[in-house]
Amino acid sequence: MHIPTLIARKREGEELSASEIELLVAGYTSGEIPDYQMAAFAMAVYFKGMSAAEIAALTRSMIASGDCFSHPSGHPAVVDKHSTGGIGDKVSLVLAPLVACAGCWVPMVSGRGLGITGGTLDKLESIPGFRVRIDLADASAQLAQLGVVMMGQTERFCPADKKLYALRDVTGTVPSIPLITASIMSKKLAESLDRLVLDVKFGSGAFMQTRGDAEALAASMLAVGREMGVEVHTVLNPMSEPTGRSVGNALEVVEALETLAGGGPADLRNVVLDLSEKIAGVSREQLEKLLDDGSALRRFEMMVSAQGGNPADLPNLAEIHRAPVIREVLAPAGGVVSRVDAGRVGQAALQLGAGRAKASDGVNFAVGFDQWVKCGESVQAGQVVCRIHAQSAADFEIAEAMIGKAIRID
Ligand code: URA
Repeated sequence: MHIPTLIARKREGEELSASEIELLVAGYTSGEIPDYQMAAFAMAVYFKGMSAAEIAALTRSMIASGDCFSHPSGHPAVVDKHSTGGIGDKVSLVLAPLVACAGCWVPMVSGRGLGITGGTLDKLESIPGFRVRIDLADASAQLAQLGVVMMGQTERFCPADKKLYALRDVTGTVPSIPLITASIMSKKLAESLDRLVLDVKFGSGAFMQTRGDAEALAASMLAVGREMGVEVHTVLNPMSEPTGRSVGNALEVVEALETLAGGGPADLRNVVLDLSEKIAGVSREQLEKLLDDGSALRRFEMMVSAQGGNPADLPNLAEIHRAPVIREVLAPAGGVVSRVDAGRVGQAALQLGAGRAKASDGVNFAVGFDQWVKCGESVQAGQVVCRIHAQSAADFEIAEAMIGKAIRID
């Protein structure tokens, strides 16, 4: 196969065959095809797109580049959810153990935060000792025992995606619906799922800024899932304000624990239930009961234990990661909160150190926000609109100025 010709054909908008895409992905994974050719190919896809058949072929090739979960015969329904990310989105932490309590297996492979979007792995790692690096054999054993494992992408899990995503990140080719579809769906379908729910966010704090773009991405991912015989559901959710009342790694785990124990903010609980009921195979009422009677929290604690953490640390997480500066931000005037701009809150969280600007950065587990007011709530002048957890007084002041522009009270 002559790679420059293949790139040129894609540049001219031609449809490539499944075997051409397969050879391209295999050659890139093995190192035979260099980054510069793959970058040119990704840019050609960015401008010319891909047909549904090409996207399915790309997804299949990326799955085939590594190992997949292989579940024993007679296994329970294997299910998962993927969210395209947002601010304060700690849904996975609640949903995975909850759906396991309903009798499903949830082999959740998640990512790290990048830019304003937080990552499930970073949140989990704020639990002392929690291991997200698990090989497939150990993950499968835990799945059979607890019905849930939450882990990172290993070297052998969709390595083609790992390499291509890193390349896209530095070549301006991330925002391409065919490439995003294949990237997300390869990682999810390598879990060998029966059912998948996709939480596609749109708005200022989301990857997809408009509902139209989110619909296009949802349709593309749905088509690939169906093509590959997996029951896929999509739910579009606005990301105009943060999910729940906290943003930041340990702070979000604290809020997830409250929700796992039957409390927590109403919007977070509702998103968890909306998504869970698509895949769990039980009613919403049964799922609510599993939150309210402590079952979901117990399953989360068992998972923490199995993955190297100590459940006894969970109630003390806020103290374990206590930021040096914790200060309230007060409403300058009374009224109804009409905006808490998720994108701006995400930028402020990134500035505080809760997220990473580039993939090689670390994150600070302690910093972020809690006690956020929600849109539609009434506040009095001088009432707390949120608390900032900062590493220093100077950081607090920068974040305070940033969120001054995020919130509007009418
Ligand atoms: N998340 C992924 O895993 N891949 C993408 O391409 C974009 C977001």
